[in-house]
Order: sequence, then structure tokens, then C-alpha cells
Amino acid sequence: MLSLNRTRTQSRSTRSMSLGGMDYVDPKKKSNVVGKVFMAAALTALCIIMLKRSPTFNTPSPFAHYEPGVTHVLVTGGAGYIGSHAAFRLLKDSYRVTIVDNLSRGNLGAIKVLQELFPEPGRLQFIYTDLGDAKAVHRIFSENAFDAVMHFAAVAYVGESTMDPLKYYHNITSNTLGVLEAMHTHGVKTLIYSSTCATYGEPEKMPITEQTPQKPINPYGKAKKMAEDIILDFHKNSDMAVMILRYFNVIGSDPEGRLGEAPRPELREHGRISGACFDAARGIIPGLKVRGTDYKTEDGTCIRDYIDVTDLVDAHVKALEKAKPGKVGIYNVGTGRGRSVKEFVEACKKATGVPLKVDYLPRRPGDYAEVYSDPTKIRTELNWTAKYTNLHESLRVAWRWQKAHINGYSTPQSI
Ligand SMILES: NC(=O)c1ccc[n+]([C@@H]2O[C@H](COP(=O)([O-])OP(=O)(O)OC[C@H]3O[C@@H](n4cnc5c(N)ncnc54)[C@H](O)[C@@H]3O)[C@@H](O)[C@H]2O)c1
Ligand SMILES: *[C@@H]1O[C@H](CO)[C@@H](O)[C@H](O)[C@H]1NC(C)=O
Ligand SMILES: *[C@@H]1O[C@H](CO)[C@@H](O)[C@H](O)[C@H]1NC(C)=O
Ligand SMILES: *[C@@H]1O[C@H](CO)[C@@H](O)[C@H](O)[C@H]1NC(C)=O
Repeated sequence: MLSLNRTRTQSRSTRSMSLGGMDYVDPKKKSNVVGKVFMAAALTALCIIMLKRSPTFNTPSPFAHYEPGVTHVLVTGGAGYIGSHAAFRLLKDSYRVTIVDNLSRGNLGAIKVLQELFPEPGRLQFIYTDLGDAKAVHRIFSENAFDAVMHFAAVAYVGESTMDPLKYYHNITSNTLGVLEAMHTHGVKTLIYSSTCATYGEPEKMPITEQTPQKPINPYGKAKKMAEDIILDFHKNSDMAVMILRYFNVIGSDPEGRLGEAPRPELREHGRISGACFDAARGIIPGLKVRGTDYKTEDGTCIRDYIDVTDLVDAHVKALEKAKPGKVGIYNVGTGRGRSVKEFVEACKKATGVPLKVDYLPRRPGDYAEVYSDPTKIRTELNWTAKYTNLHESLRVAWRWQKAHINGYSTPQSI
């Protein structure tokens, strides 16, 4: 476990360090004595500055104590696509945020952006830890005073889950159990859980309501469903406030271009439709392949429900505000409006301005024709509706970030 935190040292076994600002010195070039003396002096000065910047030695960490009027949220997976946007929104709304992520899929660059936007002590800390490490997770909970947990950390690609199911049961189901146990042990009473429409499988009736039976058809959906079941069983004898949000297809990024979606290049083949659109627009892949044009839908291609990440994180904040001890709320987060793959492709062409090559191919086994949500429950109970989602606009915003970040966040992927 390694803590990357501007304001304090996390524990004996972890070290605080400052992001950026230090130049690399080529050791081969400093052969003369004057140079060496100068180097030693500079290093000493640097150490003193770093010690001064770290208030650990005299001030207690603001993260370790409850503070009236301040809600401290643990955001797991906060270096990832949705988690980073959620952390940003929480920080803007004056929440105190601790991000735990092991950067296996997330980006240190996203953390750095957030730290630059919210540098004040007691706003944001980043703890580099694997959630599969139960001891480390317990230590984090004992050293920090969390009011709530938003649990985003997971592996999240349907295709990959069929090839490597254990990875999914481990990083989704087992890690959620670990987080829940730590919350139980340390008395943290509010959980907002990231679930997915993949837990429904292939329902016969559209739209999908929260009552639609859950019959997941791939390890990703099953692992998430099992995690939901664990949370719900635990909840029966607890006064925890639980909100389970089942997202539909998430697109878009921060409208002001500070954060974006930057999955690992090696995950491209498992990627999502928006990633494929941007990769095709950049020429990384030759074009888009639309599989299936003879579905019983208006234009023959599959229908999906796309939700902008800005709307999605708004649903999380509303869920957090409305969470009640001893109660559980389960909500679909979608627009209620399906859009066809053809519509998506047209929106992608328009948003990127690139005349993409599109191949229309036969159906791919396992795809279902139509999936869209019924968002009535979340509208009536949480007063949430999708305000930002607009296929063309969401893709335009995301494309602007993609174009400006050809190599993603282009910071070191590990420390
Ligand atoms: N993106 C979507 O369309 C979508 C749809 C439905 C549900 N979800 C859910 O939303 C959540 C976030 O998804 P995302 O798209 O932001 O994915 P992401 O891969 O961008 O982010 C996941 C983050 O979790 C971290 N992580 C994974 N395993 C970890 C571990 N063992 N310890 C510590 N950190 C770990 C990764 O490093 C990464 O930063 C996931 O739970 C996912 O299942 C996503
Ligand atoms: C992230 O956690 C996994 C275990 O879930 C571990 O195997 C992997 O090495 C970790 N990745 C990094 C970059 O630390
Ligand atoms: C998930 O779990 C597996 C062990 O099953 C581990 O090897 C892997 O690194 C974990 N993390 C990710 C992001 O895959
Ligand atoms: C619901 O949200 C809207 C803003 O989106 C707000 O104007 C309205 O007052 C809210 N209604 C309730 C009952 O909170």
C-alpha cells in the first residue's frame, strides 16, 4: 500500500509524496565537485521543503476525524472513468473525498487533475491500495473516518469476463464482500453500490424496471448480481443505508474537459461502443463494425440506453443525499429512451467530423435486440432525470477530450 497524498503520511508502511515538480537529474553529467556540493545542498533544501509541506508531524489528519457538517466519502475506483467523475462532483459539492484505487485500470493522471483542482488540506486524499488486500482495507477504515462509501472499483468488460471469469468473481464479488465487512467492522453506515443492467440478462419485456427478474448471462453480470445479493442479505439485519444503482450504457465526459475516459490500450478489443467510435475516428482501427441489421427494431440494428456520465454521477449524489438508515433503494439509471446502433454511428460521425468507414455484418451471437430502462422509480423517489444526455453532444464532449489526450492522461501508469 502506498499513499499518494499531499497533506500527510498515511501510516508507517506508507509514504506521502508530491506529484510532479521534481526534475530528473542525469547522474552521469555531474562529475565535478562543485556540482556534487550543489546537488547535496539542493537535496537538503528539497527535503526541508517537503517536510514543511507535510503537516503530519504536528497536525492530526483531517481525514481521520469526523467533522460536523462535512461528509467524508470513500470513493473506490476513483482513478477510473466513472469514479473520477464522481469524485470531482463530490469535491465540487464540498464533500471530503478519499480515493482508493490500485491503478490496475485507472489513471494517476485523473488523480493529479483532481488534486490540482482541490489542493486544500482535508479535501482529497489518494490511497494506492488493492481492495483484494483485506488487511490493507481494514487499516484504511481504521485510520480514516468515513461517513459513506461509493464502491466503483471493479473490472467491467463483458467480453473479458467470459474469458477470465475468476478475475470477475474476485475483483467484483469478493472485493465487495471485503469492503462490506470493513464497513461493518468500522461502523460506516452508508453504501452506494455501482451495479449494472447486465444483471438483468435478456429480459423478455421492455422497458426494464427494477422488478424485472435478474437472470444474468455472463460472469460480469453474475458477479455483480452476487455482490448485490451479499449486500441485500447483510442489509436485512443491519441499519445500513444502501443504494444500488444499475447503470445502463455510460458515455460522455466532463463538459469542461478536465476528465475523460482513458481505458488501457490492451482493453480495446473488449471495449465499449464509444471507445470504438473514437478509435475509428483516430484511425487506430480501420472503421466500425455493426453486427446485425435484421433485428426486429425500427432500423434493424440493436437498441441501447445511453446515459451521460454527468447525469450518472448526479444520480449518485442524489442517492447519497436520500440514503436512509435501515433502508435500501434499488434504481435503474438510464434515460428510458433506446437509441439504435445506426443512430449511434451517425452521432459519432457528426461528433467527430470523421467520415467513418462502417461495415454491416451478420449478427453476433449473444447480443439482444433491445435494452432500455424504465427510469420512473428514480425520477419519483430521487427526483433525478437525465439532463445532460444527448447522444451527439455527449460524444462531442468526449471526443474533444480524446483529441486533446491522444495518449490518455499520459502520466506514469504506476508509481
Ligand atoms: N462504464 C460503464 O458503461 C458501466 C456500466 C455499468 C456499470 N459500470 C460499473 O461502474 C463501475 C466503474 O466503471 P468504470 O467504467 O469507471 O471502470 P474503470 O475500469 O474505468 O474503473 C474501475 C477502477 O477500479 C479500479 N480497481 C479495479 N480493481 C481494483 C482493486 N482490486 N483494487 C483497487 N482498485 C481497483 C481500477 O484501477 C479503476 O480505476 C464499475 O463497478 C462498473 O462495473 C460501468
Ligand atoms: C491490483 O490488484 C491486483 C489484485 O486484485 C494485483 O494482482 C495487481 O498487481 C494490482 N495492480 C497493481 C498495478 O498494483
Ligand atoms: C483481479 O483479480 C485477479 C485474481 O483473480 C488479479 O490477478 C488481477 O490483477 C485483479 N485485478 C484486475 C484489475 O484484474
Ligand atoms: C426536483 O429537482 C428540481 C431540479 O432538477 C428542483 O427544481 C425541484 O425543486 C426538485 N423537487 C423536489 C421535490 O425536491
